[in-house]
Amino acid sequence: MFHDPDFMPFVPRKRPSIRVAARNFIENWPAEAYRDSHATVRGVWPILPEMRLVADPVLVEEILVAQADKFGRDRLQVEALADEVNRDSLFFAEGAHWRWQRRSATPAFRYENLLALVPTFAMGADILAQEWGARGREVVDVSPAMTRATFWIILQAVLGEGAASLDREKYLAALTPAFSTTAWRFLYAQMSLPRAFPFPGKRKAEADVRWLQRETSRLVAERRAARGGGTDILGLLLSARDPETGRAMTDSELVSNLYIFMVAGHETAATALAWTLWLLAKDQATQERLRAEIDAVVGARDIAPEDLEHLMFARQVIQESMRLFPPGVAIGRGAREDVTIGPLDIRKGDFLLVASFCLHRHEKLWEEPNAFDPCRFAPQKASARQRYAYLPFGAGPRICIGLSFAMIEMQVVLATLIRRFRFRAVPGHRLALATNLTLRAKNGLPLEIETL
Ligand code: HEM
Repeated sequence: MFHDPDFMPFVPRKRPSIRVAARNFIENWPAEAYRDSHATVRGVWPILPEMRLVADPVLVEEILVAQADKFGRDRLQVEALADEVNRDSLFFAEGAHWRWQRRSATPAFRYENLLALVPTFAMGADILAQEWGARGREVVDVSPAMTRATFWIILQAVLGEGAASLDREKYLAALTPAFSTTAWRFLYAQMSLPRAFPFPGKRKAEADVRWLQRETSRLVAERRAARGGGTDILGLLLSARDPETGRAMTDSELVSNLYIFMVAGHETAATALAWTLWLLAKDQATQERLRAEIDAVVGARDIAPEDLEHLMFARQVIQESMRLFPPGVAIGRGAREDVTIGPLDIRKGDFLLVASFCLHRHEKLWEEPNAFDPCRFAPQKASARQRYAYLPFGAGPRICIGLSFAMIEMQVVLATLIRRFRFRAVPGHRLALATNLTLRAKNGLPLEIETL
């Protein structure tokens, strides 16, 4: 077990604060959420309403799995992200419309089919490694670096050769401000304020989103004009047919899904990888153990698909990193009808947050919850734990479709980087969280990088 004060960089507040809500809203979640089955975030009248948090694997199973049909996407998420992420997309669709889109996209995300992407994942990390290797020992903020690598990777997976026609840097530069304002949108949605209400950076974010939508539409039009199906994810979406009606996706559905895959497919994995490198930089012994595993399994050759099942410790390190710093801190749900779940009486329209961040650090579920210990995920230990105590990818029918994609990608990127570089913490750097779309560090995650 490795301990560091930064592994829990804030004290849960006794009284929620509006200032904190826009910066790092999880600080407003009370201490009970880390020791009880559920908790209420007190309201701040008239601005922030009360909010219910769930942090119990049995209740989580009911909400996300057993009675999943009684819950839909919650109002806050829809309102907060409606501008950035079109409601037609797989992420927001509900009922039959969601089911056929999910079925159409699923084959592209099966583990066996994704193994063909191992060289692409390795190349994404290699591009970065060449850049770092040329510069010798230096301090690098691994947050934006991981974003660039995972964005390059997702573009190859989704667009194939079509990726060449996109101005990658410009697209990424537009995404960052668009999503860094999500906390404001969540806050305003909670306060039921009109969408026209201003907040810092709003005008730029809106202009960026309009440009992103135009660019994404152009990519779909380009592929249509080339009459290309293709084996990449866009090709698969183009050839998808609803098994019941035989209809294909409309252009608007294609654009929204392409966009959601490009966004959800890189930001989350980038966040998880950056936290993983930062944790390993703190815990040198674990970093060495991981390097030894990679040397033993892969040696000096390229990483191959068959290596993945032997890079077990790498997998455990990533799992433990997503326990402490889950890219998505909670999973929101809105009740479609009145329902009682354990001690919770839920009314139609009520909003619930499955608080993954609290569940992952719950006193009753984890020994020394704030310590870093990848051995928690050794197979015997993991199988003894309650299934719904760990939710980085969600659970039930709406579990992340990109789970296998992300796990393979992260194993390959981590292995590629750890065998080329040693990562060390920068003395004096203190962590502050900035929870937006994903759980990020306010001032980035600078690490000292030494070429081996
Ligand atoms: C470390 C990486 C990732 C994490 C932690 C993550 C997390 C999640 C979570 C928690 C959900 C469930 C949300 C809910 O139930 O409300 C989700 C859904 C989703 N994720 Fe991921 N994700 C990751 C990577 C990816 C990748 C690589 C892709 C695509 C290439 C992707 C695409 C999606 C989509 C489309 C959904 C919506 C699925 C549906 O509603 O049917 N994610 N993700």
